[in-house]
Amino acid sequence: MPDSRVNSWVDSAERIGADLHLELSGPGGRRAALTGALREAVRSGRLAPGARLPPYRSLAADLGVARNTVADAYAELVAEGWLTARQGSGTRVAERAEPLRPRARVPKKLPPRVRGTRHDLRQGTPDASAFPRAAWLASYRRALQQAPNEAFGPGDPAGRRELREALAEYLARARGVRTEPGRIVICSGFAHAVGLLFGGGVLRGPLAVEAYGLSFHRKLLTAAGVRTVPLPLDDDGARVDRLGRERAVLLTPAHQFPTGGPLHPERRAAVVDWARARDGVVLEDDYDGEFRYDRKPVGAVQGLDPERVIHIGSVSKSLSPALRLGWMVLPERYVDGVLAAKGDREAWASVLDQLSLADFLASGSYDRHVRRMRQRYRSRRDRLVAALAEHAPHIAVTGVAAGLHAVLRLPPGTERSAVKAAARHGIALDGLAGFRHPATDMEPREGLVVGYATPSEAEYGPALEALCRVLPG
Ligand SMILES: Cc1ncc(COP(=O)(O)O)c(C=O)c1O
Repeated sequence: MPDSRVNSWVDSAERIGADLHLELSGPGGRRAALTGALREAVRSGRLAPGARLPPYRSLAADLGVARNTVADAYAELVAEGWLTARQGSGTRVAERAEPLRPRARVPKKLPPRVRGTRHDLRQGTPDASAFPRAAWLASYRRALQQAPNEAFGPGDPAGRRELREALAEYLARARGVRTEPGRIVICSGFAHAVGLLFGGGVLRGPLAVEAYGLSFHRKLLTAAGVRTVPLPLDDDGARVDRLGRERAVLLTPAHQFPTGGPLHPERRAAVVDWARARDGVVLEDDYDGEFRYDRKPVGAVQGLDPERVIHIGSVSKSLSPALRLGWMVLPERYVDGVLAAKGDREAWASVLDQLSLADFLASGSYDRHVRRMRQRYRSRRDRLVAALAEHAPHIAVTGVAAGLHAVLRLPPGTERSAVKAAARHGIALDGLAGFRHPATDMEPREGLVVGYATPSEAEYGPALEALCRVLPG
């Protein structure tokens, strides 16, 4: 064997030796302990079939045992068939030694959820091909270069100060949120925020929610022991006049999810009055507030009363749901409780990602990206509306003034077959029924929720054509 190959073989085998993490304990002396530990490492799959074992001398040195102890243990395992020893290739894990089997159940793959999907028009994700890789990398690099050493220690559960400062400025400017960094707690997104508030004992149910909403969020709440009480919707948004004995209400005021409209200004004021009168609180899910096309952005309800509204946002629609970065803007009285729920140190949101987002915001990259995506999504929305006007003029399209999805209203009794027909033609999308609260008595709405942000630019045209072909006539 050439020298370089021998050296690399020895190097890698020695590295394996250092990483074996063998615990030499139990009765029967060092040799028995080593034999047992190696057997267990093979059995559990930590040492994979074919893996080289370290030379006697380096494992002996690592473990502080005699060379002969290692030689004897290897010989015993060779005799038992766990290992093989061949001149020139050292001692290896036998190929037929069965490692731990991988789990039989294949982990659920997210998109594509529908087998045979050719056109993904499900709501929920921004155009993944448009993630601003270069700008994010630049922010990440700057963040890494400029981070003080203490940033690499355990993180502050409130989140990095740099990010909370950048968010306070951004949210005030872009969303009309009234706050300061001390009222902001970083989390990994809306789902996490709900977990902290209800799972962490800061708020208690029952919680009033909109009669149509994300079932994933309802499930999270149910899992946290919170009963949700549906509020009916009409053309002006949630019927906040129907709030009952609850002390908390969850709303999507900028763009009702998923039906589409903003909460009427009078209802925005009314729900804040309700919270004041009942010593209650409004949870504002501002999931896509930046994407408003027809008018100036509808500001956050939080601006009406920062002590009565918990404003929750994340980068899931503006950048990517993969980042898992979000924020809660809290009334003073909840800050300590939420921090206590987070624990002594940050356990969710990576500090480096937090610093990158702080730089991304402060450098103007976030504004540039949102502006670019707003233009892109607006043009897609316009194409959707135009295509429907041409090919399916009988179908009303609603909820188009904002966001990343639209609702195509359908006549009663036709939604299920429309979703199925779409699936048969390789189009994945959801019907409104999947968003309906099971306990609501409001008149059902039928329609298709079309996520026009989800495909890439190249995929969008064909997806739109396919959609128009399958819509009920
Ligand atoms: C209604 C609604 N709220 C909030 C979110 C964001 O959730 P998260 O921040 O946990 O990704 C989404 C999905 O992106 C959503 O559809």
